[in-house]
Order: sequence, then structure tokens, then C-alpha cells
Amino acid sequence: MEPKPTIAIIGCGYVGLTTAAILSNCGYQVLALEVNPERLAVIKQGKSFFYEAGIDALLKQGLDTGNLTVGNAINDSITAADIVFSCVGTPDNPDGSSNLQYVFGAAEQAANFLHEGTIFVQKSTVPVGTGERIKASFVATNKNIAYVSNPEFLREGTAVADTLWFDRIVVGSQDKAAGQAVIELYKAIEANRAAVAATAGLQAPLQIPEARYLEMSRNSAELTKVTANAFLALKISFTNSIAKLADNANADITEVMEAVGADNRIGRAFLNAGRGYGGGCFPKDVSGLISSAAEHNLSLPIMTAAIEVNNSMPDYIVQKTQSAIGGPLADQKIAMLGLSFKANTSDTRRSPAIALANAFVKAGARLQAYDPVATTEAKEQLDPAIVLAYSLEQAIEGATCICIGTDWQEFIDFKWPAVTATLVVDCMNCLDPQLFKNSTTKYIGVGH
Ligand code: NAI
Repeated sequence: MEPKPTIAIIGCGYVGLTTAAILSNCGYQVLALEVNPERLAVIKQGKSFFYEAGIDALLKQGLDTGNLTVGNAINDSITAADIVFSCVGTPDNPDGSSNLQYVFGAAEQAANFLHEGTIFVQKSTVPVGTGERIKASFVATNKNIAYVSNPEFLREGTAVADTLWFDRIVVGSQDKAAGQAVIELYKAIEANRAAVAATAGLQAPLQIPEARYLEMSRNSAELTKVTANAFLALKISFTNSIAKLADNANADITEVMEAVGADNRIGRAFLNAGRGYGGGCFPKDVSGLISSAAEHNLSLPIMTAAIEVNNSMPDYIVQKTQSAIGGPLADQKIAMLGLSFKANTSDTRRSPAIALANAFVKAGARLQAYDPVATTEAKEQLDPAIVLAYSLEQAIEGATCICIGTDWQEFIDFKWPAVTATLVVDCMNCLDPQLFKNSTTKYIGVGH
């Protein structure tokens, strides 16, 4: 039997740390490198710096077994690695294009230490053509380093489960053997996932997706990832556009999209109206795609429109709330429930819930905000006039209006008929409107 390859992970954010946690629990020796000292200090204790179900147990187990080691810099410790995953951040520049300084920086630094025949795997989301440039820089070092584009599709909130029970693995490389070596790692995850899930305390999904391995060119793999995110963003903005029409035409967007999505050529996923998309991926991937097109003298008006619709949602909801109240927002005390960009994560990067909270304050309302895990992370981005609450009950106390900004289960399960507020604004359309049928509380959503 061939010895197992040794793995190194550069960048322990949401993607890198999840990958390190799982591969080290599948019996691989994993070296995880993270330059941010605060993040590193938390990881060294066998914990994640972000909230994600199951990850802490895997990190602890990885460290306890000695399979996982952590380090703070790319240096000769990486020379032992046979396969290196680059998982560094790719934020956007002020003009919307992708900032690739961490991507090129990690590749350049690593190339100094990698041994002949190492496989360098790009997991970060990069614009089409990036891999060609990195591969050329490897060639210039006169070292034989293979380059594989292997974009990541995990979703925050279900990152560990997505990495264990994946539906597709995209592998883009001109080097067949290198691509195959990467595929073998995912086959090992498939083989070990029951045990890893048990350590993580996660249940297998009711329907386990059949994993598809899609091999293609580097450029196609890079374009696949950005296109997938852009298309999901497009679905959300499309739905929100129709939701505005539904509001005006007295139709119900949920009923409409339930029926539209029942057509299997369309599908139901991501046809939910609400306060729009956010987070560390969709906004920058959409603007990055527009920039990539511009580099090829192409425009993508369809994506520009998606951004425009998305940006319009907080003010749209403020106006709708104002109309429902029928008076100035200055008299209102609003409880904002949910601040993370989506449920089950503490990530508040470009959270539309925060944008909405700030828009309410700008419109004159007084706000009390609560999130089950993201309050601390949200604090800096919130208007200083917003009062932070540390429980749902504390947030809604004395509130005349309750606004759901993120669809946490805690909010869905709450005893809504008992609330005394005049208005509930469900910005995620996550409650059953029937809950308010016999109540004096008025209920509105987005598009119904
Ligand atoms: P992140 O920003 O949370 O993590 C990146 C980490 O890399 C940071 O902790 C940073 O300190 C570290 N880093 C940067 N340069 C380094 C170096 N030279 N050596 C060691 N560490 C270094 O980013 P996140 O969210 O994990 O995303 C990483 C990439 O994966 C991005 O391209 C993102 O678009 C993509 N992605 C993210 C997903 C998500 O849900 N967060 C899902 C799928 C893809």
C-alpha cells in the first residue's frame, strides 16, 4: 500500500480549518498554517474561532492524536507536505475586483520550500486565469510543482456536514495524476465519514448525495466556482424583484415560488424572498465575476442588476415597515432578531441583517438587537445607537415592532402568538403567517 500523502493547509479560515479538521480525522498528517495570531491561539486550544457545528470536537481529536499540527508561517515545516491546500482569503478591492495578494503571496512563499513533485491545490475562490499565472510562477522556480484548482463549495453553518457529505468535487488540472491524487483524498473522506461524523457529533443527512467527481481544465474549474455563487445570488435577487411585485399586486411570493420551483427544470432552492444575500462570498464573487468579464471587454448587466436589487432590499423593508405602521419610525422601538449573514454561523461579513438594523436607525427608529452567537462580531458594524440584547426576551421587551433579520431556529420556534408588539416584520419569510391569525399583532414578510 502506498504511504498516505502528508498534507499542509495554508490559511485556517472557514475553509482551511474545516479541511484541516476533517483530513486530520481521516488519518492524514496535516500541518495547518495560520498567520493571524488571535486565530492561531484559539486553534491551538483545539477550538475554532468561528461557530460551526461539530468542528471543535474534530480539532481537539486531531490535536490529541497528533495528526494535526499547527504553525504560524510558511517555512521549511511545509517541505514535508506532498499536497498543499491554499485556503487564504480573496476579498474584493474597492473597485469590486478580486484582491489576490494573499493567493499570490502564499504560492510564492510556499514555492521556496516545496519539494519536487508537490501538488499545490487552490481551494480559494479565484478569478478565471489565476491558476495559469501561479503555474507559470512555479515553472519559473525550476521546480516540478503540480497545480490543481479544487474550488470549495461548503456552506457556512453546515461546513463540516458539507465537507463530509459532498455532492460534487471539481478538480481542474492539466496534470491527470495530480488531479487523481486530490480525488483520492475525497474518496478517503467518503470512506471515513461515518467515524468522523460520530466524533463531530453530527447525524448523516436523510438523503446522502451521490458524490460526483468532475474533472476539467484549470480555467473551467475556476470559472465554475464563481459562476455557481453568482447564479445563486441571481436567484435570490430575481426572487426579491418578483417579491416587490407580489407586495404591490397582493400576491404571495412564497406561494408563487413554491409553484414555480415545483417545475424540476427550475427547482425550489434559493427562490426565497427576504432581506437579500451577504456574507464573505456572494457579494465579492459577483463583483469579481463582473471584473473578470471586464478584463475580457465584456459586460455582465445581469449581474450588475442582481447587485442593484440586493442593495435595495434594506431600504425597501424599512419603507414597507413604515407603511405597515402607518406613522413615523421615530416613535418605534424595534427589536432586531438575528445579525449574522445567515443562520447557524457567527459570520457577520456583509450581513444584510446588520445593513437593515442600521437602515432602521437612519430612518429614526430605536433598536435593540440580538443574535444567538454573532452579537460580539456584529458590534463594530452596528450603529452605536443600537442597544445590544443578550436574549430574545430581552430584545423584544417593550418593542412595538419585531424584525427577524436571520432565520435562526430559536426564532422560528418562539411562541409568537404570545408577543405583544404591534407588528412582526419577517425579513426571511421564515414564520408561518397563520401563527398570527387570531392575534392583534400584524405580520408582514417580504413579498407577502
Ligand atoms: P478567511 O478570510 O476566513 O480565511 C483565510 C485565512 O488565511 C485567514 O485566517 C488569514 O489569516 C490566512 N492567511 C492569509 N495568508 C496566509 C499565509 N500566507 N499563510 C497562512 N495563513 C494565511 O477566508 P475563508 O472564508 O476561509 O475563505 C477562503 C477562501 O475560500 C476564499 O477564497 C473564499 O472565497 C473561499 N470560500 C469560502 C467559503 C466560505 O463559506 N467561507 C466557501 C467556499 C469558498
